[in-house]
Amino acid sequence: MRVRKAVIPAAGLGTRMLPITKSMPKEMLPVVDRPVIHYVVEEAIRAGIDDILIITGKGKRAIEDYFDRSFELEYYLRERGKVDKLKQVEEIGEMVDIYYVRQKKPLGLGDAILHAEKHVNGEPFAVLLGDDIVINNKPAVKQLMEIFERFNAPVLGVERVAWDDVSKYGIVYGTKIRGSLYEVRDLIEKPPREKAPSNVAIVGRYVLTPEVFDALRNVKPDKNGEIQLTDALRSLVKEGTKMLAREVEGKRYDVGTKVGFIRANIEIALAREELRKEIISTMEKVIQEIKHG
Ligand code: G1P
Repeated sequence: MRVRKAVIPAAGLGTRMLPITKSMPKEMLPVVDRPVIHYVVEEAIRAGIDDILIITGKGKRAIEDYFDRSFELEYYLRERGKVDKLKQVEEIGEMVDIYYVRQKKPLGLGDAILHAEKHVNGEPFAVLLGDDIVINNKPAVKQLMEIFERFNAPVLGVERVAWDDVSKYGIVYGTKIRGSLYEVRDLIEKPPREKAPSNVAIVGRYVLTPEVFDALRNVKPDKNGEIQLTDALRSLVKEGTKMLAREVEGKRYDVGTKVGFIRANIEIALAREELRKEIISTMEKVIQEIKHG
């Protein structure tokens, strides 16, 4: 079955990026000149998804405004003949069909996904987390969709991370099928290093099937009272559901952390032809100044 729909959970409180996230959704933090969520929506569109559900929560109105038309702004730009900018602004408003549902209490990623049940309506669906931007010619989520279409089993996007970082991720233990493809045998959310069964981490891209909703309803909240998606996926594996993990190709930025966010800004700016030269000379100046005190 073809994957047509994507779910983007954007209800989290963004505590890792406080204090800015006190009054601004973390998904709206700018990477160069567009918000993080723009890159994520673009990845889904490039993968052929034509229906996106964003799970929002308190204080997330800016996301809806960003993807909406802005007639005042368009009028202003048209009047002044700023054709390029006008085109850019209009395009965002017409990117794709985006639907919204609100998670009323911050009960975790798993609970956010449960809010998508009605919308996905029995179909397989992709999940893209806004904490990760993955830059690649073939979109990361598309790489998973191809595996899903071939094996008809849920697929998790993974990447090997430094052992010191395993406690930041959902960790997968799998047996290799071939190349970058694993069959998942076990999963554990944010294990301490000594309990991690591997350093293969979930990177915020999934293709899931509707069975996950029952599993989510049945898992117990974690010690913070949150429902973890990883726990629900684990229960499916333990019940015998076949689940795959694929190492995603591409450059991943963990924009949910301060250093990852700054790195994404530098590298994505460097990839922009019109900015590259000036950014390099600015960085050279900064480094010279550091060296010479
Ligand atoms: C979530 C998932 C985790 C995954 C991570 C990827 O954690 O729960 O399994 O590895 O995203 O970014 P969060 O970063 O929301 O705490």
